[in-house]
Amino acid sequence: MIFVVMGVSGSGKTTIGSLLAERLNLTFYDADDFHPEANVVKMRGGQALEDEDRMDWLHELGLQIKEWGKGDGAVLACSALKENYRYLLAPEPAPKITWVFLEGSRELLMERLRGRKGHYMPPELLDSQLKTLERPSYGLHVNVDNTPDAIVDEILKKTEDMKSLSEFGLIGMGVMGRSLALNMAEKGVKVSIYNRHVAGKEENVAKNIVKDNPSVSDMVGFDDLPAFVQSLERPRKILLMILAGAPVDQQIEALLPFLEEGDVIIDGGNSFYKDTTRRTKLLQERGIHFVGTGISGGEEGARKGPSMMPGGSQKGYEAIARYLNLISAPDKNGMPCTAYIGPDGAGHFIKMVHNSIEYAEMQVLAEAYYYLRYCLQTPPEEISRIFTGWQTGGLGSYLLEITIDILQKKEDGELLLDKILDQAAQKGTGGWSVGAALEHGVPYGPLTEAVSARSLSSFKKARVEAAKLYRHVAGNTEGDKSILIKRLTDAYQATRIINHEVGFNLMRQVSDDFEWNLDLSEIARIWTNGCIIRSELMEELVAVYATEKGLLTAPSVVNRMTEYQAGFAATVATGLQHGFALPVMASALNYFLGAITADSSANLIQAQRDYFGAHTYKRKDRGADESFHTEWKPL
Ligand code: 6PG
Repeated sequence: MIFVVMGVSGSGKTTIGSLLAERLNLTFYDADDFHPEANVVKMRGGQALEDEDRMDWLHELGLQIKEWGKGDGAVLACSALKENYRYLLAPEPAPKITWVFLEGSRELLMERLRGRKGHYMPPELLDSQLKTLERPSYGLHVNVDNTPDAIVDEILKKTEDMKSLSEFGLIGMGVMGRSLALNMAEKGVKVSIYNRHVAGKEENVAKNIVKDNPSVSDMVGFDDLPAFVQSLERPRKILLMILAGAPVDQQIEALLPFLEEGDVIIDGGNSFYKDTTRRTKLLQERGIHFVGTGISGGEEGARKGPSMMPGGSQKGYEAIARYLNLISAPDKNGMPCTAYIGPDGAGHFIKMVHNSIEYAEMQVLAEAYYYLRYCLQTPPEEISRIFTGWQTGGLGSYLLEITIDILQKKEDGELLLDKILDQAAQKGTGGWSVGAALEHGVPYGPLTEAVSARSLSSFKKARVEAAKLYRHVAGNTEGDKSILIKRLTDAYQATRIINHEVGFNLMRQVSDDFEWNLDLSEIARIWTNGCIIRSELMEELVAVYATEKGLLTAPSVVNRMTEYQAGFAATVATGLQHGFALPVMASALNYFLGAITADSSANLIQAQRDYFGAHTYKRKDRGADESFHTEWKPL
C-alpha cells in the first residue's frame, strides 16, 4: 500500500502524511528529504524550481516507491504538482498508489505558511506553486480546513469507500477493448469492463474475461449498463471501444441517463473526425466532457503500450491524462507516447492521417517487394535478407520488421504469402484522409495512390481477365543487380520522406484552417513508439518539425533527397518500363519533382481556363492583385 499525500506548500502534507502513516502502521517519508543539495539551495534563495531541476529528484522518488511497494508499503509526502511529475513517480511496473490530494484556499495556505518556522519554503513561492498545480481528477480529495485527526479520518473512510468503486470503465470487449482493459488493470488501476448481452452471441463476455484472467485482480465485469456506471467513481471516466459510426451515437444515448455533469466519455475507435467534433459539442451542452482519441498499435500495442492521440474536451482530457499516460508506450526518453492534440475532432483527425501514412508505408513496402521479386527476379529469402539489411542499417520501422517476418513464414514448406488472395481490404480511414486533402486543397498524391491501389486490387476478376490480353516485359532488367538494389533503397527512402511530408502537410493545413494549433513535432514524438508507423525516420521528424516548417526545405532532408534523386527516378523508370506498377513510388516522385520546380506548367492551365471560361489569370510581370483576360481565338 503506497499513499502519496500531495498538494502545494502549506497544505499539511508532512503533518497529515505522518499521522496517516502512524494510523496505518506504515513508514513515513518526506519527498523534500530526497532533494539534491542544489535544489535545496535554490529554494532557500527564494527561487522556484524549474522542471529540469525536478527530474532527477522525481526519478529517484519513483525508484524508492518501487522499493517500498515490494515491502509493506509507505506514506510519502510530496507536492507532485503536475501530471508529468506524478507519471515519473510511478515508473512501470509501479505498485498501486493511492493519491491523496490536500486542498485549501490560498488564504488558509498562506496563513499556515506565515506561521511556519525553520522551513526553507518562503511563502512567496505559494503563488508559483498554485500556478503550477495541475489538479488531479482522480485519487482522494480532502479539504484541509479541519484538524489533522479529522482529515486522516476522512482519508481512511474515503479509502474504504473507494475500494468498492472502479477508477475507470471500458465498454466493448473486442480485441482492442479487452487488451486495453488488461493493460490498465495490470498497471494497478481498478477497472470496470462492460460488454452488451446478445443472446446466443455475446453472453457474459466481460465476466468471462475477468474469469479467464485470474492474475489480474483489479477488474470487474458487467453486462448490465446501469450497474456498470454505478460501479465507477466520480467523475466517471468511460472509454468506448466499439465500432465507429452509428454504434457510438447509440452507446452515448444509452449512457446519458446514468451520467452526471463532469463525467467523461472517451471514444477510442477509428471514428470520423467530423463525428467527433459534433459529439464533443453536443455533449458539452449536456455538461459531459467528450474526448475522441486515436489509438494505434493493434492488439499488441493495446496490451503492452499503444500510441494515443486524444482530442476534444480539454477538461475531459485533464481528467483522464493520468490513465492514458499510464497505458501508453514510452518514447525514447521514457515519456508517454500520448499528448493532448487539440480541440474538436483533432485527435481522430490525426489518427486518420496516421492511417493514411500507414497505407502508403505498407504499399511502398509491397511495391519494393514486388519489384524485387518479379522485376529483378529475387527469391523471397533474398528479399527478406535485403529488407533485414535495411532494418538494421538505419531504415528501421515496425512495418518493415513485420514484413521481414511475413517473408519468412512458411506453411507446409511453402511461403504462406503466396497463398494469400491479392485483394487488399480497407475500413475507410485512408479514403477519409483523401477527402480531407481535397477539401482543404492539399496535394496528396502518394497517399491517395495507396488507397487506389487497394481499391484496384479488389477488382481481381477483371484484372485476371485483362492480364490475358496484355504482356508484361518481365525479367529483362539489365545491369548490375546490386546497383539496381541500391537504387531501390534510395527510392524507398525518398518515397517514405514524401509520404510523411504529404501527411504532415495535411495536418498543418487543417490545423491552420480550424485554428487547432497542432504541434507537428509533438505529434511525431507520440508516433515514435506504440503506433504502426513508428520508425527511425519518425525520430528524425521530431527534431525537424521542432524547427522547420516544411520537410522538403529542411537542410538534412535536402541533402538526403539530393542523394536519393537519381536512384529514385531510375527505379520508377525501370519498374514502369518493365510493366510493373509502382503507384506510390511513382506518385511520390511526381510530387517531389513538382514540389521542387520553380516554373511549372500551371501557366498553361491558367491560359486554358481563361480561353474557355474567361476565368482570368495573373501575370508574372504585373502585381498580384491584377487579373487579366485575353481573347485567345485567332481572328
Ligand atoms: C493502428 C491501425 C488500426 C487498424 C487500421 C486498419 O494504427 O493500429 O491503423 O487502427 O489496423 O484501422 O485499417 P484498414 O482496415 O483500413 O487497413
